[in-house]
Amino acid sequence: MNILVTGGLGFIGSHTTIELIKNNHTVIIADNLINSKIEVLDKLSTLAGIQPTFYQIDVTDEAKLEEVFVNHKIDGVIHFAGLKAVGESVSKPLEYYYNNLVSTMILSKICVKYGVSKFVFSSSATVYGDQPSPLKEDMELKKTTNPYGETKAMSERILTDTSIANPNFAVSLLRYFNPVGAHESGFIGEDPNGIPNNLMPFVTKVAKGQLEKLSVFGNDYDTIDGTGVRDYIHVVDLAKGHVKAIENLKEGVNIYNLGTGKGTSVLELVNAFMKVNDIDVPFDIVGRRPGDIATCFADASKAEKELGWKAELGIDEMVRDAWKFEQNNR
Ligand code: WQD
Repeated sequence: MNILVTGGLGFIGSHTTIELIKNNHTVIIADNLINSKIEVLDKLSTLAGIQPTFYQIDVTDEAKLEEVFVNHKIDGVIHFAGLKAVGESVSKPLEYYYNNLVSTMILSKICVKYGVSKFVFSSSATVYGDQPSPLKEDMELKKTTNPYGETKAMSERILTDTSIANPNFAVSLLRYFNPVGAHESGFIGEDPNGIPNNLMPFVTKVAKGQLEKLSVFGNDYDTIDGTGVRDYIHVVDLAKGHVKAIENLKEGVNIYNLGTGKGTSVLELVNAFMKVNDIDVPFDIVGRRPGDIATCFADASKAEKELGWKAELGIDEMVRDAWKFEQNNR
């Protein structure tokens, strides 16, 4: 299939592009480079053995985006493009609502106009809000703690209603938990601009000496060791989940958790990183981060049953591959 990957030079988009090409799909990438680097395109060509077609466009630019659909017969879309920093969304809500919602609306409108029947959306476990894990797809969604999470929940509703009104427009909503790690080559990985918000890229930069020490946000949660517990999933497993989702897309609206079903605490992850990579990661225990919840992990059985997908890589591979990328990353 010809698949348009928006945000295809980003962390998850680039890994998904590799897996799509490995499965003999043709990939067209649209990315505005706000949180990705053009160098990734050459790395993808090296790793995949073929250069994906690339458009440097903003998905909110309807005219430019429609040109892609005029130039190519698009069979499916995987929509990653979006702003995704939780903390930033609290200070810049309008930017988040505009960018994340208008991009989803314009992309959906063009897909319906050009008869594109397969739409996979990069959603997030944040839409569940703070409720007991394991989290299941049929749970009622609770209000999220930040505008970023709200844009994901609202985008899910926009896509759901668009699919109901246009039965040929089949949608798969993929709710990610905590994507970490990197391609085994160490060529591509998580490379956020500025100081990382997320745990793993912060750990790798402390290990590299670019940051002095890790602050562990609280050890007084009701968890195995008092630190936050999350469902970390290797980005390559996550990428494979997207390929399965678009290849097995049934009509209507399909919702899947993409997680391992296992929770790992901050200290468990940091200790695994130090042990597997034989390197020190100095850290301090500090106060809780506002908006954090104690525990969040998936019930991932639906994706296994309906998509034939299950995460295969564990924490040791995640910390090994994340470190290998950081060491290679200039
Ligand atoms: C993980 C754990 C922190 C940094 C967010 C988004 C979610 C998704 C993944 C996009 C928590 C602790 C972190 C640090 C720490 N993003 N931590 N020190 O908050 O679970 O999820 O990223 O889809 O939507 O909400 O990820 O990596 O920020 O935090 O102690 O410097 O690590 O308290 O327990 P989070 P995270």
